Amino acid sequence: MSKTAIVTGAASGIGLAIAKKFKQEGYATFCWDIQSPEAEHEIEFVHCDVSKESAVVEAYNVVKQKSGPADVLVNNCGLQFMAPLEEFPIEKWNQLIGVLLTGTFLCSKTVFSDMKSQKSGRIVNISSIHGKVASPFKAAYVSAKHGVHGLSKVMAVEGAEHGITVNNICPGFVDTPLMRNQVKKQMELNSMSEEEVLEKIFLKAQDIKKLTSPEQIADLTYFLTTDSASTITGESYSVSGGWGMGH
Ligand SMILES: NC(=O)c1ccc[n+]([C@@H]2O[C@H](COP(=O)([O-])OP(=O)(O)OC[C@H]3O[C@@H](n4cnc5c(N)ncnc54)[C@H](O)[C@@H]3O)[C@@H](O)[C@H]2O)c1
Repeated sequence: MSKTAIVTGAASGIGLAIAKKFKQEGYATFCWDIQSPEAEHEIEFVHCDVSKESAVVEAYNVVKQKSGPADVLVNNCGLQFMAPLEEFPIEKWNQLIGVLLTGTFLCSKTVFSDMKSQKSGRIVNISSIHGKVASPFKAAYVSAKHGVHGLSKVMAVEGAEHGITVNNICPGFVDTPLMRNQVKKQMELNSMSEEEVLEKIFLKAQDIKKLTSPEQIADLTYFLTTDSASTITGESYSVSGGWGMGH
């Protein structure tokens, strides 16, 4: 029987590339998302708002019935909202913390006991360079991603004797709808072209002035679930073109 992988937020962007990679590697692959995938593909879609515990438990029951317990969980889904601190709406704060941090907690909590019983499991969180550093106007996002790093260390410690590893990937800018929406907003705010926004704002802190592709994140995610990575846990890998090194 194939191994089972769950990827949250796999209807789009990085999550979709990760789900495709696991499918290609022979996993029964499930996408948990609040929106259906744009295009037809072989990844099984289960509607799930990861910020709601009952929805996560229900989605996991579907996975278990179809393919058995999870071998791999990739906590990827996300969203962004930007505003100066004094104007940051509490509703947006709660939503981002709810999806990015509480969602990672709930999905991991739900698969953890099966991974313990199986004496093996792999959890990879798609965090962000903003799990390590700050940028203005991203209070909720930066707080949530820093929180994910604390949570993942606890999970790595609790999972270690049970063959479970937990790691974070911290991308700089990756070419996805979430990122392109931010570019559009900056074009309007600053009356700049797309190229100017990328050069002067987005890629300013990266020494390698290139966007990362979703497939590059998918390849590292997959590597962290292989036997070669069985002693890597509690780590946070930047894939950010050297963000902040030279500045
Ligand atoms: N794109 C980047 O530049 C970048 C950089 C660093 C980190 N990241 C992180 O990578 C992850 C994926 O980002 P992306 O750029 O592919 O975004 P995206 O917008 O393309 O995809 C995010 C997906 O998450 C889903 N989602 C949102 N709320 C959800 C919820 N409550 N429950 C389930 N699914 C939900 C969306 O429907 C969407 O399909 C996010 O965690 C993001 O913070 C992205």
